[in-house]
Amino acid sequence: MKRKDILGIKDLNKTELNEILTVADGMRNMLDRGERSTELRNRNVATLFYENSTRTRNSFELAAKNLGATTTSLSVATSSVQKGESLIDTGKTLDALGTDVMIIRHPVAGAPRLLADNVTASVLNAGDGINEHPSQALLDVLTAKRRFGGLAGLKVVIVGDIYHSRVARSDTLCFTRLGATVTLCGPCSLLPDGIESMGATVEPDLRKAVVGANIVMPLRIQRERMEGAFLPSVEEYHNYYGVTDEIVSLADDAAIVMHPAPINRGAEITGDVADGYKSVIQEQVKNGVAVRMALLSLLVQCRINK
Ligand code: CP
Repeated sequence: MKRKDILGIKDLNKTELNEILTVADGMRNMLDRGERSTELRNRNVATLFYENSTRTRNSFELAAKNLGATTTSLSVATSSVQKGESLIDTGKTLDALGTDVMIIRHPVAGAPRLLADNVTASVLNAGDGINEHPSQALLDVLTAKRRFGGLAGLKVVIVGDIYHSRVARSDTLCFTRLGATVTLCGPCSLLPDGIESMGATVEPDLRKAVVGANIVMPLRIQRERMEGAFLPSVEEYHNYYGVTDEIVSLADDAAIVMHPAPINRGAEITGDVADGYKSVIQEQVKNGVAVRMALLSLLVQCRINK
């Protein structure tokens, strides 16, 4: 791979995706053996999270530490962002502090690209608005690949708030580019026009969508991104689109349930399904550290070889 930044799955070809997954698989095996690496010793990794996060932020920080890097974390609430400092000026400051990789989450789609175009550090997109969440897609695909041995021919059903979901966009691009099929399901108010152009099929009826599915992936309703009334009520949503044991029983016998999390029990998924034997939600979290180690390792290699 020869890239300064990783901003979205849409930029990555199949060869690059497979290279990242191969390195991530090795990283996961290394973590399972209880080993760490020092390959990022003397490298500085900074996280800039302008939106809340539990999994992505902590796993990027752990990933950097597992590779021996020094980490700094911009606390937006207590930083000079509150005094009006722009994203570009914040980036230039981190550049001057010797940052090798900046990891950014931002509510505005395209903010990571703006940062990348204005700093010498490598930039990793940790989720931008409703655009992309590439490391989440890669950890989802790694989880599927490790479970099923490959992706070709797998049927993935993503159900819920597709409209506001950067995970749905990145996952659709990533799974289809690697040979799986993706069906997007949700109420019409949460299915954006033209989403099929990303390579997915659309089926608004969940009971039809999940037939024969290998992976069922409910998504959280992103109320923080909604201004209008997209849904009558959570109860009604759950009745039509909640992933329950009954819904899972319509999928393939060996189907698994994934969720990018955070989950809202009783809304898009029941507690029984989230904690049940078909759920791989915690496995996704573990693979998230490995994928993020792979992304950091590959980007720093690119900086060394440029
Ligand atoms: N899946 C995901 O992005 O989770 P966080 O918002 O907790 O990082």
